[in-house]
Amino acid sequence: MEKLSVSDLKNSLETKLIGDEILIFRSVSSTQDVARKLLEQGGAEGTVVLAETQTGGRGRFGKDWVSPEGVGIWASIILHPAPYLREGDGVIPFSLACSVAVANAIRKVTGLKSSIKWPNDVLLNRKKVAGILVEISGGSIIVGVGINVNQERFPGSLEDSATSLMMESGGEVSRISVIREVLHQLECYYALLMEKGFAPVIDEMRNLSAVFGKQVVVSSNGKRYAGEAVDLDTDGALLIRLDSGIRVRVVTGSVRIL
Ligand code: BTN
Repeated sequence: MEKLSVSDLKNSLETKLIGDEILIFRSVSSTQDVARKLLEQGGAEGTVVLAETQTGGRGRFGKDWVSPEGVGIWASIILHPAPYLREGDGVIPFSLACSVAVANAIRKVTGLKSSIKWPNDVLLNRKKVAGILVEISGGSIIVGVGINVNQERFPGSLEDSATSLMMESGGEVSRISVIREVLHQLECYYALLMEKGFAPVIDEMRNLSAVFGKQVVVSSNGKRYAGEAVDLDTDGALLIRLDSGIRVRVVTGSVRIL
């Protein structure tokens, strides 16, 4: 089993900002919490926290994120986009940009073409291989990235919905290569977002989307919408044509593809 090490990761890392500081732990409750503590102590932009395993890994809406030792990428990255964040922008631009970055990194390292289930589930063969959790802390964000890399199988409840890069490619995948490329892609998309705004990211997201033209059920803020996912709005909201013909915009939620 390939162990994570700072020197291996930094060797040929193509980034200037993200990964300048890298911390690797064997076991933490959640890398998000470690990153938040570092942020409170003045953690620099681009700091990356990695763990071999998480005992309390979490996903969106407080769901558990299963993070077994040595087979996945469990990472949190500190960014300070405050000067560019307009009031009310929230984290949607960052979450979508990160999903696109992770999908691109997976393709570059493994050749596997993943798709994105809005807003930030990365899928291979309709099963989830990676997820993104963006949390705000003041003017900073903590980008949590979870990628299933070398799991051979998933336990009961996840068997039908989760997959790993190894299961899809048929061979062990280097976590170090994937992390390096994820950090590189994240840096590129972060710069794109800051310099050119959200439009180019939305276009890439459209190309990678797993949901357009599909019948979906969306749960959002206690409401449920059933219909066809038709497009993304300019702010990244999902546009759905309900079975009644009415169009709705959903800014947060989880999507089930029927
Ligand atoms: C989701 O799909 O709901 C998001 C999953 C995010 C999981 C990652 S693993 C590293 C970081 N630490 C956590 O506790 N969660 C994120």
